[in-house]
Amino acid sequence: MVAPRHFLQLKDLSRGELDHVFERTRSIKERFKAYQRYWPLQDRTLVMIFEKASTRTRLSFEAGMQQLGGSAIYLNTRDSQLGRGEPVEDAAQVISRMSDIVMIRTFEQEIIERFASHSRVPVINGLTNEYHPCQILADIFTYIEKRGPIQGRTVAWIGDSNNVCNTWLQAAEIFDFNVRVSTPPGYEVEAERAGLYGTDHFEQFADPMDAAHGADLVTTDVWTSMGFEAENEERLRDFADWQVDADMMSAARPDAVFMHCLPAHRGEEVAAAVIDGEQSVVWDEAENRLHAQKALMEFLLLGRVND
Ligand code: CP
Ligand code: NVA
Repeated sequence: MVAPRHFLQLKDLSRGELDHVFERTRSIKERFKAYQRYWPLQDRTLVMIFEKASTRTRLSFEAGMQQLGGSAIYLNTRDSQLGRGEPVEDAAQVISRMSDIVMIRTFEQEIIERFASHSRVPVINGLTNEYHPCQILADIFTYIEKRGPIQGRTVAWIGDSNNVCNTWLQAAEIFDFNVRVSTPPGYEVEAERAGLYGTDHFEQFADPMDAAHGADLVTTDVWTSMGFEAENEERLRDFADWQVDADMMSAARPDAVFMHCLPAHRGEEVAAAVIDGEQSVVWDEAENRLHAQKALMEFLLLGRVND
């Protein structure tokens, strides 16, 4: 049996493969917009396992699989044996015998790695504490759609050095752009946790205005990620000066775009005037989850399709 390809981190695909996925994203999106049927994954089944809440990830994977001719099954921890202590390795053996591809949203990256190492079929990371590679796939596609190649550009990450931030940092190494990160003290990027090889593509700033200065893309995320709710009150205090507001956007380039993976908290990590303002591309960014993940599933199941 040929070992399946997984997408557990962004760097699991090479630069060339990611470029191919973007090409396919464009084509699949165009066909979808023209109401053209495209069913390359007819009779294939996606299993989606959620150990954390989701709107976009569930919807985009489930709708995406159906639009490609396949079907999708939703499992969550609450009402499957996963929440009752069945070993992840056993679950992987069984689930991967009954399906063609699996998407998992869970806690530690180690869980998804253990699942993948016992899976006969491709496994996709739908968010872990460490990474959110499907999000950054859509984000970079969105940037390219709006502004052209991201190579050489500057991304400002304001706020928590979380799973989405870590994935931006990986992306910077793969696509050769720069990330300027500003976090409150005590929340700085941990290079090893971010899976970074070197530090050539990112710089940390104590002052968020310095990080935003001259950026082509300004982005942020919630101050408290899922799984860290116990720290919420402390984080509300610690992050109070890390809101992306109109002043911060005016430090960026005039043609800078604003991104947020959503869900957002207006008045916390982002001001309403920014997320609802002209530079915000958050709705296209969310929509592109659908198109990018369809291209990703096509690649993992069928390899390089060119039609
Ligand atoms: N951005 C994102 O992954 O959203 P959900 O948590 O709604 O899936
Ligand atoms: N960093 C957030 C992203 C949600 C899509 C979290 O992990 O909760």
